Amino acid sequence: MGNQVLEVAVETARAAGGILLSEFDRPVTISYKGEVDLVTQADRRSEAAIVGRLRTHFPKHAIVAEEGSGQKGDGRHRWIVDPLDGTTNFAHGYPCFAVSIGFEEDGELVVGVIYQPITKELFTASRGEGAYLNEKQIRVSSIAHLSTSLLATGFPSTKRARNPNIHYYWNFTLRSHGVRRDGSAALDLASVACGRFDGFWEFGLHPWDTAAGVLLVREAGGLVTNFSGQHYRPGDYETLASNGHIHAELRQAGADVQQQIVDGLELPQKSSAPGGE
Ligand code: IPD
Ligand code: CA
Ligand code: CA
Repeated sequence: MGNQVLEVAVETARAAGGILLSEFDRPVTISYKGEVDLVTQADRRSEAAIVGRLRTHFPKHAIVAEEGSGQKGDGRHRWIVDPLDGTTNFAHGYPCFAVSIGFEEDGELVVGVIYQPITKELFTASRGEGAYLNEKQIRVSSIAHLSTSLLATGFPSTKRARNPNIHYYWNFTLRSHGVRRDGSAALDLASVACGRFDGFWEFGLHPWDTAAGVLLVREAGGLVTNFSGQHYRPGDYETLASNGHIHAELRQAGADVQQQIVDGLELPQKSSAPGGE
């Protein structure tokens, strides 16, 4: 079934990407799921197209899709779908967004596809068979130190005040070449997989944000855990992905931030950055 699953995932992601592109050229009508949690017609149209195709090809498979149109299934096969990752970017006309489709068999990620329709970049991964960008095999970067790395992170659109990430953002910015906040966790993970970013972390992501991207990073030779180093599963609260080489340093930096929060230091001091920048 492996090949068929990948083929259907790819053609489905491309079709959904086409819908997003056509919607991107039109004025956007935004609705709100929460204070800053946006949803547009593009999210809904893309999801309807994806779920419709998956259901036609695999009527017995479960589908978990962000906007809620999924279905229960046979208990062994599960599609995990983000029809538009980067809705806020999309709604503001910032061309950084993607379709993300992951597939699990017996609880293990086996296929992941992320499609960025503006750049036409198609990221694919199958378990044990590597990761690809437009059919060319990709690997994580070989950057060996946090101090020379380029990182990415994101901030959730719900429960923002309770998210600790601003502390991490400050600290990691001072310890690295910089931290990008591009607004699409799926593309952030795909960028770790192809070596553009050396590491990525976020708190409170949903399974549909990460399912495909996590497989891409692992198949490209990288690591995805939590800050304690335990194996990451879609839906876990902490996501820490890297090229593997800087993973221990990222974890240590995270532990330092935690300690600073416990110590009541509102934000890390400049002098805590290596090199005292
Ligand atoms: C969001 C994006 C963003 C991340 C948020 C997600 P959405 O997904 O992945 O980068 O920081 O936590 O909710 O809502 O655009 O599908
Ligand atoms: Ca998302
Ligand atoms: Ca989404």
